[in-house]
Amino acid sequence: MCGIVGYIGRGNTKKIILQGLKTLEYRGYDSSGIALISKGNIVVEKKAGRIEKLEESIAGKDYPSDIGIGHTRWATHGVPSDKNSHPHYSMDKSVAVVHNGIIENYQNLRKELVGKGFIFSSDTDTEVISQLIQDMYNGDILDTVEKVIKRLEGSYAIGVIHKDHPNELICAREHSPLVIGIGNGENFIASDVSALLKYTKDVYYLEDGDIATLKIGSVEIFDRDKKTVSREKKHIEWSLEQATKCGYPHFMLKEIFEQPQVIKETFEKRVHNKKIDFSDILTYEEIKNINKIYIVACGTAYHAGLQGQFAFQKIAKLEVFTDVASEFRYSDPFIDEKTMVIFVSQSGETSDTLAALKEAKTKKALTVAITNVVGSTISREAHKVIYTMAGPEIAVASTKAYTTQITIFYLFSLYIGKLKGVISDEKYQEYLSDIENILEKVQKVINNHEKIKFIAEYLKDKTNGFFIGRGLDYKIALEASLKMKEVSYIHTEAFASGELKHGTIALIESGTPVIVIATQKNLLDKSVSNIKEVKARGAYIITVGFENDENLKEVSDSFISLPLCDDLFSGFLSIIPLQLLSYYTSSLKGIDVDKPRNLAKSVTVE
Ligand code: F6R
Repeated sequence: MCGIVGYIGRGNTKKIILQGLKTLEYRGYDSSGIALISKGNIVVEKKAGRIEKLEESIAGKDYPSDIGIGHTRWATHGVPSDKNSHPHYSMDKSVAVVHNGIIENYQNLRKELVGKGFIFSSDTDTEVISQLIQDMYNGDILDTVEKVIKRLEGSYAIGVIHKDHPNELICAREHSPLVIGIGNGENFIASDVSALLKYTKDVYYLEDGDIATLKIGSVEIFDRDKKTVSREKKHIEWSLEQATKCGYPHFMLKEIFEQPQVIKETFEKRVHNKKIDFSDILTYEEIKNINKIYIVACGTAYHAGLQGQFAFQKIAKLEVFTDVASEFRYSDPFIDEKTMVIFVSQSGETSDTLAALKEAKTKKALTVAITNVVGSTISREAHKVIYTMAGPEIAVASTKAYTTQITIFYLFSLYIGKLKGVISDEKYQEYLSDIENILEKVQKVINNHEKIKFIAEYLKDKTNGFFIGRGLDYKIALEASLKMKEVSYIHTEAFASGELKHGTIALIESGTPVIVIATQKNLLDKSVSNIKEVKARGAYIITVGFENDENLKEVSDSFISLPLCDDLFSGFLSIIPLQLLSYYTSSLKGIDVDKPRNLAKSVTVE
């Protein structure tokens, strides 16, 4: 999705903004642009395509400047093109605006402005903002923007500069994230903290309705009633190295390889002296009041939720429902003050998840967020928040966020199971050390990555395939299939192994790859039968199973072995080779792995 960077300081503005935009590339974009106040005027440079094209077009142009705004655009209104890229000038070029979000009433505003003689030069909703600022300008840029945003309906994070106010950078937010970075003699705005890590780790997260004015040495924030407000200063713990490739060819590979470490950190944050502690989230009194759990999320986070459901049911013996966030609100869920609804979101900004969270709050449920981003909107909206320790996830395809989310689910299930008294002390300790031991096993699976490359060689020329599994393995199949689709563009479908024969088996023909996940001991014989069914129709079988499973090896064309563990926790291991398989297939096909087509890292539109 779109990205915003803004800067006010002493020189180097062009370089700082371009660098910031590059760190936001991972969010997905199709064009980029920059606006600077230079020598008394606003210059805007923008280009469809990669940021390199923008850089080429301004290389050598001398724009001395202390203030500017930049943007990476992911098209919604109007095709990706130079003219639709941000920033957008006002007609008289006195104002430039960058904007994330959607202005829902832009057509009416545009008609009104055209009626007044304004000429528009793009098809975007954003341009109404810069034109309105020109139209309503009263000499005070902060006051003008305050009045303009009152006329906007929809969602926005905006950065505004005005040529007559070279010492003032204005920004505002409504339903779209925006942070202010606090520097020394310089200040920043960004839609995502990773753009700021090189310059500062101290930030203010703006809240809905906030508007702020940044000067070289000060930041002032006002709420929607024009009252000065102080937002809590947050210190970001993420390091710049975490947000850079550190020698890996792609972020996705780096993030897959980081999993043993981030799972460990997530574990250690919650486990002390062999005891799990979520007392900040739920006490015994609170858990007594809960009779139902919902888990709500999108995409990969939803798949982590499915594993969460499995863990809650198996370990804590609780009734759990899982739903995709975009459906949750419309399904009249049976929730009330006795329901705990858990929202899973790496970014903490996903619109569908946020909307579902607001719905659950109106129904008085206890809402808990599992997220990776401190200060994100979802973390602030939920009653309680559990942070994963994945660190910045830059690749569009989520990997380490997923495994840290499932770490949280298992620990949380064990914690609740213990509080509810449905699990013995002995079992509690046994499971806890099982989870602890998983870390080393995840590393072992990663060490086996060379083998996965060979399988990727086979897959890369295929156009379709299947992932199948039973029980927990089916949930892994769903995630593995999503990964394969998004980064390799091979159409795959995930099926519960037993369901394939009820219709879809018609698609199996000679050479169709069927990737089987088979770790659930009580279901192994049935999995072998399912393999035989598709094999008999010509499928090429790639199986992920435990290293000692000779029956599985025998029926498979290719076998990826996992170190032994209790099959309750096998999802930690089985997903790793499948993430690697998607990665290698994608890179062998020459795809831009970290930025697959049509996708955005943080999906801030519904
Ligand atoms: C897939 C992927 C997406 C996200 C989904 C939710 O690799 O990354 O499916 O999981 O868009 O995003 P968050 O977790 O940020 O709410």
